[in-house]
Amino acid sequence: MDANTKRHLLLTGMMGSGKSTVGPGVAKALKWDFYDLDAEIERTAGKSVAEIFSQEGEGYFRRLEYECLESLLGSPRPSVISLGGGTLLDERSRAKVRDHWVVWLDLAPEELWRRVQKTQRPLAQKDFEAFRALYAARRPVYRETQTFYLRCDHLDPDQIVHRILPLV
Ligand code: S3P
Repeated sequence: MDANTKRHLLLTGMMGSGKSTVGPGVAKALKWDFYDLDAEIERTAGKSVAEIFSQEGEGYFRRLEYECLESLLGSPRPSVISLGGGTLLDERSRAKVRDHWVVWLDLAPEELWRRVQKTQRPLAQKDFEAFRALYAARRPVYRETQTFYLRCDHLDPDQIVHRILPLV
């Protein structure tokens, strides 16, 4: 599919990269729908991401994540979708998003870590070294899938939105 036939704009990147913060601003400016994949998963499961991880395990969460992504991508209306940091680890998900814009929001791992400390992320419960290892392991996956790379360290959410808009 070429740029003219792409339909959805997806935000990817590590936990704490700002996907859920920036997504609504991009959607509003484009007058597109907005979806947060984690929120869709929570709605479908009737419980929080943290509860799904602790009660059903990561495998169950990933299956739900794939199903919710597939369903959102099936929408005929253009939308902005904030993915979870691990969504694109699934090869089937990577194959699905190839038909759309994929924007990778990247930041220094130290700053990502600082941000996720304030939240309940099941995969950020250990120490910074474990988090940095996850970041390093995922970078090739984000790199392989992205259609646009945006380093966000010194940008506020509005500036990030304005860098994304010309892409579509
Ligand atoms: C995850 C990231 C989270 C959420 C889940 C797993 C990951 O989303 O999907 O906790 O594997 O990186 P955010 O990236 O929105 O925090």
